Amino acid sequence: MRNILVTGGLGYIGSHTVVELIKNNYTPIIIDNLSNTEIAVLERLESITNSKLDYYNIDICNGPALSEVFSKHQIDAVIHFAAFKAVGESVEKPLKYYINNINGLNTLLDTMETFKVKNIVFSSSCTVYGEPDSSPVNEAAVTKKANSPYGRTKQIGEDILQDCKFLNTVSLRYFNPIGAHPSSKIGELPLGVPNNLVPFITQTAAGIREKLTVFGSDYNTKDGTCVRDYIHVVDLADAHVKALTFIKENPENKFEVINIGTGNGFTVLEIINTFEKVNNIKLNYSIGPRRPGDVEKVWADASKAKLKLGWEAQLDLNEMLASSWNWQLALKNK
Ligand code: UFG
Repeated sequence: MRNILVTGGLGYIGSHTVVELIKNNYTPIIIDNLSNTEIAVLERLESITNSKLDYYNIDICNGPALSEVFSKHQIDAVIHFAAFKAVGESVEKPLKYYINNINGLNTLLDTMETFKVKNIVFSSSCTVYGEPDSSPVNEAAVTKKANSPYGRTKQIGEDILQDCKFLNTVSLRYFNPIGAHPSSKIGELPLGVPNNLVPFITQTAAGIREKLTVFGSDYNTKDGTCVRDYIHVVDLADAHVKALTFIKENPENKFEVINIGTGNGFTVLEIINTFEKVNNIKLNYSIGPRRPGDVEKVWADASKAKLKLGWEAQLDLNEMLASSWNWQLALKNK
């Protein structure tokens, strides 16, 4: 197994995964339609990895274009990132999400079946758990009705993959990815006003936003703010490489879901305090009302990842928040 098609390979998680693939002697073949990233990421990836990369500007819903790539390269496995991921936007524009995320997956799987490619790692999310009955949440927990059309596309995506018996699938349910590559050459690219906590923190620290609002302080948690399991994107990228090894070593596998988190929950205030301490910065923030649709607390039982993939998170919250800030600083010069 060598040639790995990486859909959405120039995006936030995709780009970090490309780096880890090359480190582990895989050959990534990237497709990305640049809908939520920019072409400069390709050059930066080539600079980090010191290699020339195969890249195609292709929409995941374009079957004939996908077929051309599968004809040109002997694809051994696919890592499928290409999808829309903004929770709020998905509520406003549900069809945009159903069309891109579901049609994109169907088109990809149809092409894989035609070219007899069965190995796939799917980009799923802890959002499939909805508000879990308890945390840490494990993979056997019932998936409740998702809070958004985005979350539903991940649930439906997993159902489709499970129904396609020709596949050997590992579906990775990510918790909250943050941080950036230590080179500060790649990270999460801001697109307008950030929805997510850490990009909002770094932009506030950089003076791009005036103030961070903490969404609610009356939750049933230790300081009243929501709890999440934040995971370093470099650790997350590594989980994809380990998922490929699992697929290789378990050719009879059909469908396996695996949580990718640290197993530790942190409140919003703990994130703010750690960011301030690690980076020696005072952050302008205040407490505001709850954000509709937010889950109160969720963190991973990550023991299955250790058992099945031999994977566990290596990087702690300090490293996550230091790298996020370094990336924000580096962005000024990009
Ligand atoms: N938060 C604030 N202020 C902000 C932004 C966020 O207090 O300005 C709080 C939220 O209320 C939440 C926590 O910070 O308690 C984390 O919020 P994020 O928006 O960063 O992430 P979510 O936990 O809401 O997760 C969502 C989706 C996931 C998706 C993830 C990353 O539910 O499926 O964003 O895109 F993976």
